[in-house]
Amino acid sequence: MEERIFSDEEKAVMASRFYPKYHLAAPIGWINDPNGFCFFKGKYHMFYQYHPNSPEWGPMHWGHASSKDLVHWDHEPIAIAPDKDYDNGGCFSGSAIEKNGKLCLMYTGHVPNGDYHHEKQCLAFSKDGIHFEKFSGNPVLDAPRADDICYDDFRDPKIWKHGNKYYCVIGSKTPDEHGQVLLFEFADLKGWELKNIAFRDTAERRTMYECPNLAEFEDGAVMILSVIVFQDGFNEYLPQYSAGKINYRTGKFDGGELKMLDYGSSFYAPQIMTAPDGRVITMGWLNMWNVEMPEQRDGWAGLMTIPREIIFEGDKVRSVPVKELEKLRGESFTYKNLSLTEKSELNGINGDCGELLVEVDLKNNPDFEIDLRAGEEEKTALIYNAAENKLILDRMQSGEGPKDVREVVLEKSDKLKLQIFLDKSSVEIFVNDGEAVFTSRIYPQETSQKIFFVPQKNSLNIDSATFYEIN
Ligand code: FRU
Repeated sequence: MEERIFSDEEKAVMASRFYPKYHLAAPIGWINDPNGFCFFKGKYHMFYQYHPNSPEWGPMHWGHASSKDLVHWDHEPIAIAPDKDYDNGGCFSGSAIEKNGKLCLMYTGHVPNGDYHHEKQCLAFSKDGIHFEKFSGNPVLDAPRADDICYDDFRDPKIWKHGNKYYCVIGSKTPDEHGQVLLFEFADLKGWELKNIAFRDTAERRTMYECPNLAEFEDGAVMILSVIVFQDGFNEYLPQYSAGKINYRTGKFDGGELKMLDYGSSFYAPQIMTAPDGRVITMGWLNMWNVEMPEQRDGWAGLMTIPREIIFEGDKVRSVPVKELEKLRGESFTYKNLSLTEKSELNGINGDCGELLVEVDLKNNPDFEIDLRAGEEEKTALIYNAAENKLILDRMQSGEGPKDVREVVLEKSDKLKLQIFLDKSSVEIFVNDGEAVFTSRIYPQETSQKIFFVPQKNSLNIDSATFYEIN
């Protein structure tokens, strides 16, 4: 592989204060959704919505990185750019599949048209997984003209193979603004047929589904959705899922109520892939629409989450960090059987980059707080409330950037298990082996690197706490 040479501007971006150490981010410019996440010719490939010319959203390209282990990523050349009349407003999100030894990208060609836009699905092919050529027959799929399908919002195809046929789900909405997923079937990559409206929302406020993904497991399936919720005059963007079953004969997904895939404020548009060993793995955009992004001052915006394995458990899923991430673990500091009665720091447990594992005994119903990235006047507080069995992530004093409080009610248990990843301007908190996850950007000062354990009611009984440095 040719060694990527970075420009001086890119080097400055990658050395800037909020730039991640071990998360995938572009060398410069703006990124949003993960795209085309796949395994091709011995490597994982991650493409992403990319605007290389500025740290603002703009005409979308597909940026590209590859990895042998899901942990270390190499930057590859831009895969596709918006240079045709059918995609001149942007090569919007999509997915990838291998066909006849070639890597095929399926993406949405976005073309603005006054107050509306046209969105049609397009293909691009590559023999080496690096250099792509757009298909001469593009676009290959237009939105169906039907009374219950809005013609304009029709994007983000996720393609897969089942038996000897190809399928894709595409984000859509009804003309009166209910999110829905369209399922298409085709025998080769060019002749498509609408199989059915696989899944439709009945709630008033969920106005559009973006980036649908169908994850299949031995005993069921999960429809992952990026849901636009219109509330109080604003759009909110939620990563949700419905667990159920897909019926390939009818094209219907029979799924339960929507649940949160992540409770943090900075997780959207996750995309799944099936690894060679059968695991369903996802990565999401570790950022959010319409929020302040202090890293834009330094010439970049957005990053990807760490890869997570999705585990199906009947009517819900758990997400856990992939085991490959253990490779990142450096020097470690471990404490066992602590009973803390006052605010404490533990020697070695601090920093702006690292993995923290904590197991708390909850039998004495403690209220407590763990303060991450704490400094003189800053902290990102993870708060446990025993009476309500609630875990709260509080960004009100996190530093610059958006401020909010997010919470989840946990299932009753004697223990609380936390696995926390810190990386410069992000925190990802996996609770009880993936029962809940909080993913959020934070923008503290560089000097805010302490971690405090703060009992608030009853002693804080820690069975074990380990911090792994990540360098
Ligand atoms: C989701 C999304 C997609 C679209 C892309 C544009 O975050 O809005 O629906 O394809 O971003 O960049």
